[in-house]
Amino acid sequence: MELRFTEEQDMMRKMVRDFAQSEIAPFIENMEKGEFPRDILTKMGGLGLMGIPVPEELGGAEMDFISYIIAIHELSKVSAAVGVILSVHTSVGTNPILYFGNEEQKKKYVPKLAAGEYLGAFALTEPSAGSDAGSLKTKAVKNGDYYILNGSKVFITNGGEADTYIVFASTDPEAGSRGISAFIVEKDTPGLVIGKDEHKMGLHGSRTVQLTFEDMKVPAANLLGEEGKGFKIAMGNLDVGRVGIAAQALGIAEAALEAATAYAKERHQFGRPIAAQQAVGFKLADMAANIEAAKLLVYRAADLRSRGLSCGKEASMAKLFASRTAVEAATEAIQVFGGYGYTEDYPVERFFRDAKVTEIYEGTSEIQRLVISKQL
Ligand code: CAA
Repeated sequence: MELRFTEEQDMMRKMVRDFAQSEIAPFIENMEKGEFPRDILTKMGGLGLMGIPVPEELGGAEMDFISYIIAIHELSKVSAAVGVILSVHTSVGTNPILYFGNEEQKKKYVPKLAAGEYLGAFALTEPSAGSDAGSLKTKAVKNGDYYILNGSKVFITNGGEADTYIVFASTDPEAGSRGISAFIVEKDTPGLVIGKDEHKMGLHGSRTVQLTFEDMKVPAANLLGEEGKGFKIAMGNLDVGRVGIAAQALGIAEAALEAATAYAKERHQFGRPIAAQQAVGFKLADMAANIEAAKLLVYRAADLRSRGLSCGKEASMAKLFASRTAVEAATEAIQVFGGYGYTEDYPVERFFRDAKVTEIYEGTSEIQRLVISKQL
């Protein structure tokens, strides 16, 4: 067993770290005011970051899955918003087409997604179907060369900005999750209505909207895979997507530890740095130990995936543990900063707001426990 990154993976880490510091850090304030980082994504496209695992013949960087996870991890240390935009774009916005699309669909969409010319989104969740994704109500009825879709979706990351949406709808309501089909929906499709922007606690640079489909006419050629196989497409891609969210959480946790450690060394009380007071030093020690454990879980799941092995259980374990670690590390970082940590003058309150959702989206922590326990 080897716990070392390859030279190529190290180069990816350095490149993303430099990019995040020079291009993303100066834009954080704009994102906190709700500005979408469109130019940053265009530059990421130029660097090959929008299609890391995509084969070269389809315009991607054709790098391993670990390199992709490194990118999300490093981006999220600086901006968890950019981290989630990339994670959703790649693992649930592009990969479903890459793995389940036919040749025509792959050629039409993947090169544009991989270049960052297109942004991808994933529309599964509905107002009354969140954790119980299989109970979704959106319907797709075949009519000649089209499917007519009616229904609504909520909490769609990248929604309103995306060029393509992977939309899940029931083509056979009697069949439950076996009646769900997946469709590639382009942003200008008649009947696709971009609804309310959610005003979120954190991740202000990432856009989250509601979608409504009003007799939305989707060409039959945009059915992804076979009719009735949509739920498996969703679940299969979420298995992998969850490693990305775990890496995002890991990035937030590390950022919180770095900020808290630097502050604790600088801030003096009772005649010495607070880092030298056991009450604070032990907090930092607990954060560091948990982060190290989270890192091992994240890269263990990524390694399995990189080697083409199934990683569903390990991805859920990584997401469960890393998201908890992020929330705890951000909470403790605020405690280390004291009153200053509760202000917007320091970044730890942002880490706290950004961390929470990692326990909720791409399957809540309760759903991760369900996935893990089912496999025990
Ligand atoms: N891979 C492939 N197929 C799978 C699978 C997987 N990981 N998990 C289940 N399936 C298949 C099963 O084999 C089964 O197939 P058959 O009907 O042929 O037997 C079928 O799916 C149904 O399986 P279950 O009965 O186990 O499914 P369930 O209805 O009990 O649900 C669940 C399982 C794990 C709870 C699932 O509903 C789930 O993951 N819920 C959470 C939803 C979620 O993660 N949403 C995230 C939205 S995207 C997002 O958040 C992006 C973002 O913005 C950041």
